[in-house]
Amino acid sequence: MAARLIELPPARGPLSEGLFAALEEPSGEGMEVPDAIDSVDPIADEDLQLALYVAYELHYTAIRGVDEGWEWAPSLIGFRAALERPFEAAVAALVEPAAEEELASVGAALQQIVAEDPGPPLSRHMEIEGRLEQMLELVVHRSAYQLKESDPHSWAIPRLSPRPKAALLEVQADEYGGGDPERMHAVLFANTMAALGLDPTYGRYLERLPAVTLATVNLMSGFGLHRRRRGAIVGHLAAFEMTSSIPNRRYGNALRRLGFGREATHFYDEHVEADAVHENIAAWDLAGGLAADEPEVAADILFGARALLQVEARWARHLMDSWERGDSSLCEPVAVPA
Ligand SMILES: [Fe+2]
Ligand SMILES: [Fe+2]
Repeated sequence: MAARLIELPPARGPLSEGLFAALEEPSGEGMEVPDAIDSVDPIADEDLQLALYVAYELHYTAIRGVDEGWEWAPSLIGFRAALERPFEAAVAALVEPAAEEELASVGAALQQIVAEDPGPPLSRHMEIEGRLEQMLELVVHRSAYQLKESDPHSWAIPRLSPRPKAALLEVQADEYGGGDPERMHAVLFANTMAALGLDPTYGRYLERLPAVTLATVNLMSGFGLHRRRRGAIVGHLAAFEMTSSIPNRRYGNALRRLGFGREATHFYDEHVEADAVHENIAAWDLAGGLAADEPEVAADILFGARALLQVEARWARHLMDSWERGDSSLCEPVAVPA
């Protein structure tokens, strides 16, 4: 995997148009910041989610032709904040506030939240009857996160006290390959993409990803990049790890059913094993440890967990609905390799 360098995708409306036009100028020029952004459905707003995604990408990757100084340009940060406000409010509207008794044991509450959530039927569909073109679409959607797997949660590291920090590092060490770049989960995912005949280049499919997919990544980037949301990013990771083993087993089975071998399935098989261990560390040592040291963020830990489940469910519903209609779930379908 080479150093990251993405291209600016085509704009999807006035917000992304304004942002991309500004990014083509030197960062000292600054950009216009809207007072307020009116969006009927911020989670599915193509223009808002793409603009927010690219604003966050300045922290993760180089963008061709874009002055790196934009990352911390005050007007860019102001613009990003204007996008974050309606998105945060839309996510908050989906999330049930934590109950008082849940705060007494965040680890137990996380287990309850995850146990009560049946999870979307997407992985079951893929295991039993998903077609090759659907598998390719699923992998393209996930590439937005999986090619930078764990990076959004790593922003939390300097913000945690020793016990939750050690737990987070224990999980992240595995995610990043335990010293071996070939075992890094993002690299395993790139191998899956290549085995499926897809282009594993970071950011290659950005222009095809709909708002609901970008929202799943913007959610974690937003939580990760704001210290005030350290509870939420920890809860997000905990719920992510706790809901990962079963769907990943099914996706591995789906690939085997479609005739793919180890190169394609390794990423999924690895997660069946690893996340069974990670889920306990994440729920009890990371989330429970943070709640013990900073009880004032306990409610936000549970918020992050519930927000993950809601935003992921919305994404999964989009895929299933698109496929039921006989449509592609991407903005533009990918070619099925011959
Ligand atoms: Fe992973
Ligand atoms: Fe994991």
